[in-house]
Amino acid sequence: MRRYLLPLVALVLTSLPLSAQKLAATPPMGWNSWNWFAGKVTDADIRKAADLIVSSGMRDAGYVYVNIDDTWQGKRDASGVIHANEKFPDMEALADYVHSKGLKIGIYSSPGPQTCAHYEGSYGHEEQDAKTYAAWGMDYLKYDLCSFRNNMRQDHPNDIPAQNKMMRDAYEKMHQALLKAGRPVVYSLCQYGFDQSWQWAPKVGGNLWRTTDDIRANYDSMILIGLSQAGLSKYAGPGHWNDPDMLEVGNGKMTHEEDVSHMTMWSMLAAPLIAGNNLTQMNDDVRSVLTNKEVVAVDQDKLGKQGDRIFSGDETEIWSRPLSDGSVALAIFNLSHDQNVMRGLRLHLKEAGFPAGTAHARDLWAGKDLGMLKDTDVFTLPRHGAVLLKLSK
Ligand code: GLA
Repeated sequence: MRRYLLPLVALVLTSLPLSAQKLAATPPMGWNSWNWFAGKVTDADIRKAADLIVSSGMRDAGYVYVNIDDTWQGKRDASGVIHANEKFPDMEALADYVHSKGLKIGIYSSPGPQTCAHYEGSYGHEEQDAKTYAAWGMDYLKYDLCSFRNNMRQDHPNDIPAQNKMMRDAYEKMHQALLKAGRPVVYSLCQYGFDQSWQWAPKVGGNLWRTTDDIRANYDSMILIGLSQAGLSKYAGPGHWNDPDMLEVGNGKMTHEEDVSHMTMWSMLAAPLIAGNNLTQMNDDVRSVLTNKEVVAVDQDKLGKQGDRIFSGDETEIWSRPLSDGSVALAIFNLSHDQNVMRGLRLHLKEAGFPAGTAHARDLWAGKDLGMLKDTDVFTLPRHGAVLLKLSK
């Protein structure tokens, strides 16, 4: 029996390439230009962002990828090599600058002929582009479906399975191109969760894959996305993560309580933490939400087990996530829209998997030990608020 067990274990362990497991052993953390700058981003904005990620303490909290999103692309030259547009005069120099700060840099493209903002995509130039990114020193690629959907529809009208296969092949093609280019690159699939991306994205080299449509900087969008992740936990793990989209923390339209709920939910989901706020105007409150050590530690827990829902009802959600030290992260969300109402939400220890009188709790946002929990405990939460507990036996 034993003779067969070892190869079996090895097979399971290697079902994900080792390189992928090493590259994103915990969910990637960083900052991306889209949510704030959108099409206006320039070389100067990226350099400034890198400076501020360091000076704000974000780098030390784990935010290391500085990602350029859509609208950097210029024209291809006669041999098909892509060049950046006038907003990015020298990509290699920019990458050197970001690297000199102890950070990594990311870039963005599409399998289609055009990106979502109608800039040049990688269609028909995958290997060439992967080589160019490697030559520039890029460490991360967000690959966004965009106009490739038209190609899929044209080639296979009304044949969704054939369209889906074409999409998966396009992502695999860039994966192979990245491998051939030889530079380790975190590969981020962005196709809004079509065809249940979580089912196949790791097989085409995805280190992370979007599971939903674009997030917006408001509570309803954020919480809808967060709650829709219930049931996806089994698809994530070291090297391969569900991506409910980038953070909107500090992007102006959410209250402190909503930012706390956002960060709590993303940490429970082992979600990539890619901030997208304007760092030049980040106040201390936003900085402290993004960099809270004990909360980020839940997101980055090395066991890599995504959390899931354990209770839903009465405008209350309770989610739990097992952690590598044997403890459990437990989040309680107050979904109520009622203004100015503090609500007492009940937690029954049994539901959280702890027999009566056996759980010691720490409130991670408050950084406070709460001692032993009662069989049934009440947590009083403001509108759209959340509490994140670490429960240990
Ligand atoms: C899509 C993606 C966004 C962003 C834009 C850029 O909408 O989902 O995250 O990259 O394209 O055009």
